Amino acid sequence: MERNKTVIIVGAGLAGLSCANQVLQLSSKHNVVILEKLGKAGGNSIKASSGINGAGTRHQKEQDSPAQFFDDTVKSAKGLGKPELMKVLSERSAQAVNWLEQDFGVDLSVVAQLGGHSVARTHRGGGKLPPGFAIISALSKPLEDKIWPNCRVLELIRGSNNQVTGVKYVQGSTQHELMGQVVLASGGFSGSKEMLMRYRPDIAHLPTTNGPQTQGEGQQMCGLIDAQLREMDQVQVHPTGFVDPADPSNGTKFLAGEALRGEGGVLLDAQGKRFVDELQTRDVVSRAIMDRDGDPTLVLDQRAYSRIQHHVDFYMMKGLMRSGTLADLKAEFGWTADPEVSTSSEKYYWGVVTPVVHFTMGGVETTAHGHVVDKTGHVIPNLYAAGEVTGGVHGANRLGGSSLLECVVFGRIIAESIVNS
Ligand code: FAD
Ligand code: SIN
Repeated sequence: MERNKTVIIVGAGLAGLSCANQVLQLSSKHNVVILEKLGKAGGNSIKASSGINGAGTRHQKEQDSPAQFFDDTVKSAKGLGKPELMKVLSERSAQAVNWLEQDFGVDLSVVAQLGGHSVARTHRGGGKLPPGFAIISALSKPLEDKIWPNCRVLELIRGSNNQVTGVKYVQGSTQHELMGQVVLASGGFSGSKEMLMRYRPDIAHLPTTNGPQTQGEGQQMCGLIDAQLREMDQVQVHPTGFVDPADPSNGTKFLAGEALRGEGGVLLDAQGKRFVDELQTRDVVSRAIMDRDGDPTLVLDQRAYSRIQHHVDFYMMKGLMRSGTLADLKAEFGWTADPEVSTSSEKYYWGVVTPVVHFTMGGVETTAHGHVVDKTGHVIPNLYAAGEVTGGVHGANRLGGSSLLECVVFGRIIAESIVNS
């Protein structure tokens, strides 16, 4: 392989797959290799269930614009993060949704409103496939021979003038070197108790929604070459991980996707009362739960269920939700008075939920073109990063649906930067 045309992507989640596909669409002169430490592609991206944001797409019924999405993002970020990255995120969001639909045939025609958004802009498909699975399956297909499974990257190799020239990786028990430009797409660190103890010891005891592979290796490799890390203490606690009645103390929880609340699910406390606007940002909803005793119950009536039936059916199949009449719901929780839900529904669907570590907003500092910068603010030549490994796109609180989006937007931007360099 011609050395300077090789693009080495670390991680086969959505950021890595978006970048790889875009490189191949733009250039026949570049080789792409995706090194993935697990046996298959997908990372946490494959678990995404609520969807991907897009402002101004053909599927939205309400008026929306990149400027409005940018305002929501900046508000949610609470003064942290880099507004120039948020601007790119919002301005390229509709194109990202369109790219997935047009070039890969992913259905993203259903739009829901998640917490902190001023309008409905989180897109998912109308069928049974959750959006993360549908997107990863479609984007993996053209890359079958480019994804090298069971290859764990250990270290970035550096040459003269601070540039990165390749990686050291291990496959089985053999160590190898591969030379080329490097794109880090290795995800966050919400699966690492060690990293959480270092940056957020106050929440390290909480369960997580992330797979055990989510160890922050990209951030650690960057730390070793003096790349700038930012806002590493900004870790998102999602308000609703399911408490599995058959295994309540399990440290890894299935996520009760925010779309369940977006489509009308409500949170009830131990007395059956609502205690927070369910469509507030995640930090607000999580805080409201943690300030009370006991885990709340997420309840959907028949109308809400009909809007998100496939998700609920899946959670019921897993034993995480159950259904019944109002009398059944009251009996389960010992409520004598009616709980604060519409009382005219034929049936209700419910599950107990608890706050969970979900996403790391902090990470490797990048420019709007996806270059990693060092501690003096200079670009590190030949090193790029996209997706959850980076910091600065979301500030203090990521809006639901904006992580899949950042993977696609910045994965594609890096491909453009590489092909045009
Ligand atoms: P990942 O998808 O996590 O991929 C990183 C990959 O890198 C992994 O495959 C990992 O094995 C690999 N890797 C790590 N280190 C190495 C190494 N050293 N060498 C080689 N490979 C390595 N966001 C939304 O926007 N909408 C949603 O609906 C949504 N739902 C979610 C539901 C759940 C349950 C979870 C956990 C997250 C959800 N998110 C959602 C967040 C979103 O899915 C992730 O933040 C995002 O997909 C991260 O993508 P990524 O490509 O950066 O990383
Ligand atoms: C969720 O479905 O609640 C997760 C969405 C996200 O993390 O963006």
